[in-house]
Amino acid sequence: LRQIFLTRHGESTDNVLGRIGGDAPLSPRGKKFAKALARFIKQQRLAFALEMVESKKREDWRAHKANKSPMPSTPQEEVRAKVRAASNSQFTVWTSMLKRSTETGAAFDPDEYDVKHIRFLNEINSGCCEGLTYEDIQKAYPEEFHARQANKLYYRYPGMGGESYIDVIHRLQSMIIELERMTQSCLIITHRVIMRILLGYLLDWTQTEMPHMMVPIHTVYEIRPKPYGTELKKWQYIE
Ligand code: G3H
Repeated sequence: LRQIFLTRHGESTDNVLGRIGGDAPLSPRGKKFAKALARFIKQQRLAFALEMVESKKREDWRAHKANKSPMPSTPQEEVRAKVRAASNSQFTVWTSMLKRSTETGAAFDPDEYDVKHIRFLNEINSGCCEGLTYEDIQKAYPEEFHARQANKLYYRYPGMGGESYIDVIHRLQSMIIELERMTQSCLIITHRVIMRILLGYLLDWTQTEMPHMMVPIHTVYEIRPKPYGTELKKWQYIE
């Protein structure tokens, strides 16, 4: 059993202005979120380790009752050592290569976490609309704006490097394979479109609903893949 945490980066200076794309740094609120996120993940890892030790204890008791095996002993010191070992186990933090995401990841101590920056996790490239607000786009490119509204999944932004959700799904395929393959717990710090696609995959959202799902900033999703289905928890950062 492992924990997969997913979140968008902390609030950026462009988020404050309502601009999409670009490579803006974190706002003061975003910086506060990054610190709170690192504290939160540490707590959650400890709680998870404790949960694992408790569930092992319950299993041992069940086995003891069924087989009349010797009573399992769990002196406090032994339990504490197990929790420490489990919470110190390898934990990967993946961020995109954009500033708002790497700056959020910078709150994680590299001696404690294996932090990696991955280009595949970058936000959708909005081509000629990079750096604009949705209002700007509606004014400057009204036809494009409506074409995207009509088919958000397949619509590709015009201009250099412009992508559609479908393009992003394709570039994320190798990441999804890696995520399925790995056995350790991890945190992914990324962007709205990437969150929708990853959550959509993990939680079985349909391709019709996925591009429209609400995925606010300063919200952490925890996924636990189980043999039958997936467990989801969601936390919101309150300042
Ligand atoms: O910067 C890009 C936005 O986060 C994308 O969101 O697909 O709802 O326009 P959207």
